[in-house]
Amino acid sequence: MLRTHNCGQLRKSDVGTEVTLCGWVESKRDHGGAVFIDLRDRYGITQVVIGPPEADKSLIDQAGHVPAESVILIRGKVSDRLEGKTNEKLPTGEIEVRSEHFEILNAAATPPFTPGQAELPGEDLRLKYRFLDLRRTEMQRAMVLRSRIVKIMRDYFAQHDFIDVETPILGRSTPEGARDYLVPSRVHPGEFYALPQSPQLYKQILMVAGFDRYVQVAKCFRDEDLRADRQPEFTQLDLEMSFVDADDIMSLIDGLVAATAKEVLGKDIALPLPRMTYEEAMRRFGSDAPDLRFGMEIVDVTDVAKKTEFRVFRGTADAGKFVRGINVKNAADKYSRRQIDELTSWVQNDFGAKGLAWFRVEEDGSLWSPIAKNFDAEHLAEIKEKLDGQPNDLLMFLADTWDVTCRGLSGLRKRMAVELELFSPNDLNCSWVTEFPMFERDEESDRYVAMHHPFTAPLADDLPRLKDQPEKCHAQAYDLVINGSEAGGGTIRIHDPGVQQQVFDLLGIDEETAKDRFGFLLDALKYGAPPHGGIALGVDRWVMLFAGLENIREVIAFPKTQKASDLMTEAPGEVDSQQLEELHLRTIKAKS
Ligand code: AMO
Ligand code: AMP
Repeated sequence: MLRTHNCGQLRKSDVGTEVTLCGWVESKRDHGGAVFIDLRDRYGITQVVIGPPEADKSLIDQAGHVPAESVILIRGKVSDRLEGKTNEKLPTGEIEVRSEHFEILNAAATPPFTPGQAELPGEDLRLKYRFLDLRRTEMQRAMVLRSRIVKIMRDYFAQHDFIDVETPILGRSTPEGARDYLVPSRVHPGEFYALPQSPQLYKQILMVAGFDRYVQVAKCFRDEDLRADRQPEFTQLDLEMSFVDADDIMSLIDGLVAATAKEVLGKDIALPLPRMTYEEAMRRFGSDAPDLRFGMEIVDVTDVAKKTEFRVFRGTADAGKFVRGINVKNAADKYSRRQIDELTSWVQNDFGAKGLAWFRVEEDGSLWSPIAKNFDAEHLAEIKEKLDGQPNDLLMFLADTWDVTCRGLSGLRKRMAVELELFSPNDLNCSWVTEFPMFERDEESDRYVAMHHPFTAPLADDLPRLKDQPEKCHAQAYDLVINGSEAGGGTIRIHDPGVQQQVFDLLGIDEETAKDRFGFLLDALKYGAPPHGGIALGVDRWVMLFAGLENIREVIAFPKTQKASDLMTEAPGEVDSQQLEELHLRTIKAKS
């Protein structure tokens, strides 16, 4: 190697050693005839001094002119820093290297931003010059963490006898609820491969093939609306096992969560991780990925609402809908009328709520609200009691459909917990949500759609209901939730071709279509399919959550923007007409 040490390595015990270092010029200061350079690589920063008596004037001059972010090599002796000049923030802060030789390996052009600058440039600029952005300590730390977490995962599953098998990227569509990315075939005019939304079908086939335990760090592709925790191309830690039930899979992943928390954060996590059913999660938290770092549980007051004179409450309750609320503890003096009005518009605009009813618990225990006059004292007391209202608590209610009360109150819960700092960024809360409904009704097409995917097995007790009351069937499904984010999801699969066909029927996939799209799976299920199930963990989300970050792009080396573009390579891009011709494609200009 060109160097003897890296830039994070040297300590007081190395004083007197002759060393060669290579790295990037993070910053440079000229101090009375000597140039001080902070030399950086991914291991750290070392201070280099180019000055007398070691360096002559021409060397000092050269160092004085080296542009920021240039790559240099220096040779010199490790020395103690002068009295009072040590830097406690740097592991190398007690020493400096006094350089007697200095070489510019590559002079940098003036960069649009420097990795060391205090203020972060806009994200577009960071993504366009990702090679500069990735030099930033935070990005380097995130990528190192990512590599560590993937290694912890690989080691864990290797210890548990899993076999790593690669599955194809060019294949048939695997439905996971998003649009496919398609790849045109040159040799089969008019035909397309689909990039995998997940390796779901292949991994099930591997179980039929007798592999028993499969694992893969798998790239998945989904053309869906992007959010802060979603990318069109992302990574799953995907696994499948034979002869297991839901409990086996959850216990296995419990062990991985604990191992990761211990190794990465030094935290001990109590196992088993708590589990709650989907029904309970929606009832208590209004979300299938509840954030359990804080309380503020949803309380149903529909029965009281029915008795009141308040038109909104009573009308909603009489119509068979719901009045539900949360108690934001000790927050009444923290929200002004204007702020509550703003919250009201927010739940209206973002969640389709019709309004927000609220009460403040006064010092004397009474409830105050602009709508309080519509209620008898007795009913106010009942409401207060149900929500355990104490002085200065803020009680907030939505009167609406089950769905709107869930989404709206879950939204309020999360937003107010952030505003009131009800949890610390270091908290890590992991749990399971189980027994999701098998199907949801898609209003637009007026059809059932699979809540997870169409290969999910119903609970054994629900099997007899599958045909006539599909909406009452629950799945052997489990989602891993970390700090209110879905960090993984899996199911026990259908291994009986008859049941599989029944589910396809319910989803409106007739026998012919099923044969055409999933014939290989139905076939495989006929030739000795063991009972099997598995899960996929969102690797990007794990890294994001374990790093305490809020944006998935911060843990992906080359992520795409909200509009699915790569600003560095400018993908997607146009291709020349000959390439299109070979692929038997013609494009239509999009209407702008
Ligand atoms: P599912 O669709 O729940 O299950 O995906 C599993 C996990 O992958 C992560 N994830 C994503 N991460 C980033 N960007 C995205 N667009 C994205 N979509 C999903 C989430 C999610 O929990 N085949 C099944 C798994 C199985 O049943 O075994 C599947 O893909 O963390
Ligand atoms: P209104 O009589 O419509 O002016 O509403 C009186 C108060 O009740 C206002 O504070 C509204 O925000 C609130 N409100 C109206 N509709 C609802 C609803 N569906 N759920 C909760 N609060 C509501």
